[in-house]
Amino acid sequence: MAYQWFKAFHIIGIVVWFAGLFYLVRLFVYHAEANDKPEPARSILKEQYELMEKRLYYIITNPGMYVTVAMAIGLLWSQPSFLHDWWLHVKLGFVVLLIGYHHYCKRIMKKLAAGECNWTGQQFRIMNEAPTVLLVAIVLLAVFKNSLPLNWTTWAIAAMVVAMAAGIQLYAKKRRQDREKLESAA
Ligand code: HEM
Repeated sequence: MAYQWFKAFHIIGIVVWFAGLFYLVRLFVYHAEANDKPEPARSILKEQYELMEKRLYYIITNPGMYVTVAMAIGLLWSQPSFLHDWWLHVKLGFVVLLIGYHHYCKRIMKKLAAGECNWTGQQFRIMNEAPTVLLVAIVLLAVFKNSLPLNWTTWAIAAMVVAMAAGIQLYAKKRRQDREKLESAA
């Protein structure tokens, strides 16, 4: 019974953690683009984004990570045989990258607040695709485990995810260019 509880809250933690990570970097996009606005809008927006980022990071994203990891420890404690499986070792490798990404976001948040980050909105948009790749890899490993099919279907799914991410970027870029054209014509 405890195992099911750990798994349920492991999944809830994952949803919260990823919601936080995706939205945080989306806020970085707006924060970076606020630099193009005239004063006083620039200062007001930057102050607001700084506050939103801080709250999102400390109230949603961080607890999401802690709940996911704490529940994962509970799962392994209930079923230690998983510790011998290769899928778990590979999954842990991806989780380490994800935790690294999480902490990198914190560093960027601090740099943005200090006015020391000169990344563009477009760079943050690209950065926001990284957790998608990790999410897909980790979930596939967790679901298929040692029988993860590394055949053409898996590679087709991976290619689809990459194509979708690229498509979203291109669509966003086109919309931005159209908007800029409209603004410069007005
Ligand atoms: C501290 C790192 C983690 C460890 C040690 C860990 C370990 C585990 C274990 C032992 C299970 C139970 C497998 C089963 O009963 O079938 C599980 C389930 C699962 N994990 Fe993790 N996990 C970690 C992080 C993550 C992360 C970051 C994600 C998502 C990005 C994730 C996604 C999942 C999913 C979707 C399941 C449910 C799989 C199923 O029921 O078929 N895990 N995890």
